[in-house]
Amino acid sequence: MEISRRPRRNRRSEPLRALVRETSLSPAHLVMPCFARDGRNLSEPIPSMPGCDRHSVDRLVALARAWSDLGIPAIALFPATAAEAKTADAKAALDPDGLVPRAVRALKDALPHLLVITDIALDPFTDHGHDGLLSPDGRIDNDPSVEVLSAMAVVHARAGADLVAPSDMMDGRVGAIRESLDRAGFQDTGILAYTAKYASAFYGPFRDALGSAPRSGDKKTYQMDPANRREAMLEADLDEAEGADILMVKPGLPYLDVLRELRDRTTLPLASYHVSGEYSMLKAASERGWIDYDRCLLESLVSFRRAGADFILTYGAADAARLLS
Ligand code: PBG
Repeated sequence: MEISRRPRRNRRSEPLRALVRETSLSPAHLVMPCFARDGRNLSEPIPSMPGCDRHSVDRLVALARAWSDLGIPAIALFPATAAEAKTADAKAALDPDGLVPRAVRALKDALPHLLVITDIALDPFTDHGHDGLLSPDGRIDNDPSVEVLSAMAVVHARAGADLVAPSDMMDGRVGAIRESLDRAGFQDTGILAYTAKYASAFYGPFRDALGSAPRSGDKKTYQMDPANRREAMLEADLDEAEGADILMVKPGLPYLDVLRELRDRTTLPLASYHVSGEYSMLKAASERGWIDYDRCLLESLVSFRRAGADFILTYGAADAARLLS
C-alpha cells in the first residue's frame, strides 16, 4: 500500500504545531546590550537606534530591573565615554572608578541576580577608535593591547562582572585574560569570547551610539573577513584551548552558517550577537510600514536558536520578552 506523505497534517492547528515545534525561544535566552553614560537621570536617544538610549547609571539600574522582571537574565554593558576622556593609551579603561566599574557595582548591588557582562576592548576609550593600541607606524599592536585588555578584565571582575566579553579580536587575549583573572583571584569570573567577530558594516549604529567609529583605517587587520568560514573554526579552537567558557559569533543573521558549524564542533555553549545594524534595519523598515517589527524580530531570534545559539544578544530583548510573555 502506498503511504501518502502529507507534512501539512502536522501544521493543521496551533496546538499541533506547538506539539511538533523543534525550537524554543523564551526571555531566558536573551541578553540585553545597553549603553551607559555619565550624569544623573539622563536618557539620551541614539538616532540610528530607535528605542535604545544612552542611560545614566541610575536610569540603567531602573531599566535593568524592568528587563529582569520580564525574565531577561543578563545585560551586556557598553560605556559611552565622554570624548574628552578618550586618549591614545585608553587609560580610562583601567580606572576602577570609571563608568563601567561604577555601573557594574550599582547594578549588582541593586539586582544581584541579574548577570552583568562587560565588554573588553579599547575602542570606547581610545581617541583613534580602535580596539587596541596603535604603534607609531599606525598598526594595531597586538601584545601590548592584550596586556591592557587583561588588566581591564581584572578591573571589571573586581567590580563584580559575572562574565567579561573580549570583543577586540587580538590574538591570545582569551588565554591572557584567563591567566590574569586567575592570578587576581577571580577564578569564577567567566569569559564570553567574541570568537568569530567579523569586520562588518552592520556595526554602524553601535559606533554612532559610542562615538567610536575609527578615525583612520578600518578594523580588517583584527576582525575577520566576512568571506571566511574555516578561519572561524581556527578562532574557536584557540579560544576553547585558551579557556573561553562561552563562544560567540557576530554579527547574527548573515553568519548563521558559522554558528551552525560551530555548534557541530564544540561542546561549549554558544551565543550569537544580533547587532545594531540588524536591529536598526528592522526598526527602519517597520517605521515605513514595510515589515512588521514584532514578527520579524521573533522570527530572527528563533532562527538563531534553530541554528544552534544557546542565547542571543539583541537590542530587541525587552520587546521580544514582552511579546513572549
Ligand atoms: C567594539 C564592539 C563593536 C560592537 C560590540 N563591540 C563594534 C566594533 O567592533 O566596531 C558592535 C555591536 C553592535 O553593532 O551591536 N569592541
